[in-house]
Amino acid sequence: MFRSVRSTVGLTLLGLGTVAHAQTAAPVRPPKVPPIQGPMSRPTVARAAEKAVAATKETTSGFAYRNATTPPAPGWTGPVFQLSHDYPQKDPGTCPANVCTWLSNKKVTFDQTPGEKTQTQWSPEWAQYMQQLLDYVREGQDLQLDNQVGWQVKVNGNTRWFHMPWMAYDTKTGREFVHGLTNERTAQISDFLGEQLVDEGLNKLSLSATKETAQGYETWAFGVYNEWGGYAIGRSWNTDGTPRIDKNHNGGPQPAGLPFPEGTLVAKLLFTTATPKDVPYLEGSPVWQADRHQTKGTLFLCERQVQEVRLIQLDVAVVDKSSPTRWVFGTFAYNGKLKGKTVWDRLEPVGVQWGNDPWSSPAAAKADSLPIVQSVLNTKIGTYQHFGCNNRLAGPVDNKLSSCMACHANGYTPQAGVASPSGSNTIPPIFGFPGQCTTNSVDNANYFTNNQFPMAYAGGQYPNLMNMDTSLQMWVAFLQYGQFNQFNQPEACVNPSGT
Ligand code: HEC
Repeated sequence: MFRSVRSTVGLTLLGLGTVAHAQTAAPVRPPKVPPIQGPMSRPTVARAAEKAVAATKETTSGFAYRNATTPPAPGWTGPVFQLSHDYPQKDPGTCPANVCTWLSNKKVTFDQTPGEKTQTQWSPEWAQYMQQLLDYVREGQDLQLDNQVGWQVKVNGNTRWFHMPWMAYDTKTGREFVHGLTNERTAQISDFLGEQLVDEGLNKLSLSATKETAQGYETWAFGVYNEWGGYAIGRSWNTDGTPRIDKNHNGGPQPAGLPFPEGTLVAKLLFTTATPKDVPYLEGSPVWQADRHQTKGTLFLCERQVQEVRLIQLDVAVVDKSSPTRWVFGTFAYNGKLKGKTVWDRLEPVGVQWGNDPWSSPAAAKADSLPIVQSVLNTKIGTYQHFGCNNRLAGPVDNKLSSCMACHANGYTPQAGVASPSGSNTIPPIFGFPGQCTTNSVDNANYFTNNQFPMAYAGGQYPNLMNMDTSLQMWVAFLQYGQFNQFNQPEACVNPSGT
């Protein structure tokens, strides 16, 4: 049932339960969380109560800028995540050409309009464009992305990378303490190896893996914004943890730091709980520790425990004015079969996307559908890839019925301080809806559209929302702040959960 969901953040916020006063701006006290039934219930309830007590003692800024949902256990000697939130106060200005090399790359163009007969083919020029992004991301990082070293936020002595506040609030999906990873969409073996291998049992290993881990493989990830992105974050959040809103930003209230300026580059590293035994091309992938959910049978529990995860995907997003949406998304897949000595040499580009092709199926009827011109896919890549909806781009552990841009450009939140509790349907369904990618429906037309900051949500059925300028981390932050402001506690984690 949750196959189409990229992130369990969304599940917690969108999928379950109902609360009536979702549109009310004034703080509302919720009824007490009902006790959880079943054999798992007692420790969870006890811990929730302890946390609620601790929560009242913590300040707004304490929640906004805390490192992790739960601190390391006493005696922990491994790596400990530190939130980078000393955002640049001064406008970093135009990004120098020798830093943002990709912005002056004239060998690739981001087509604006339909009309081409076929989708643009992958070429060495696209590979070079992706390499420019990767070179910037890898600068100053450990060559094997060793677990002990983790991610370095300082490059050449200066802080290059910044984190989003408020992402350690939700106790189920929020940042864990080892590397600051958050819980994302659960992947299935077919995401890694293709449907056929599973259905027809051509590959014994993957089939047995499917049986062994029918609950799927959790994805845990972290995102980092460079100085240009960090500057926009710093202007959207006060140091006391409250949002900074520009009341009349292009016609309506919006986060004061948006849109992200040109020069912004955001990277996201996604780790899977699958092992090389399940997915052979994960061989040699960096093994990181993560305080992630324990499992019981085929179910994930709320309880966490430090376990291994492996790098599978590296996403990049940049602001580029020459893109019709102002954003360009690209992704890399890890391939342990490649000869490269460092982990960075074993990352292969999967594709690039700069729009949602709103003139193509399922946003348009099949009969009128034009070839895709706003995604280019590396179809010669050395690993199985399912890509996204109808040849749009999505990565290995992404939802294949979606696309990078579709999910991201639909990132809208209620006004600052207003929650969007699970099941309240007050914001667009970014993770999935019935008929996604299959029928030519209004929902699909709205989803596979080209939104740009500060445009309102397509179709008009979600008025008065704030446009997150594609940043789903900003989206998580505003939703979590709304939850805190209205309810004073995160949504309860129901244990055990099937995600
Ligand atoms: C179905 C939804 C979905 C799809 C598809 C998706 N993402 Fe995301 N992405 C998210 C969510 C949710 C977050 C924020 C949560 C987090 O980072 O922990 C996110 C975060 C990111 C970030 C960090 C900055 C930000 O915008 O929040 C980047 C960069 C990113 N994704 C790139 C990509 C790329 C590239 C693709 C396609 C290859 C992609 N995403 C596909 C849901 C999606």
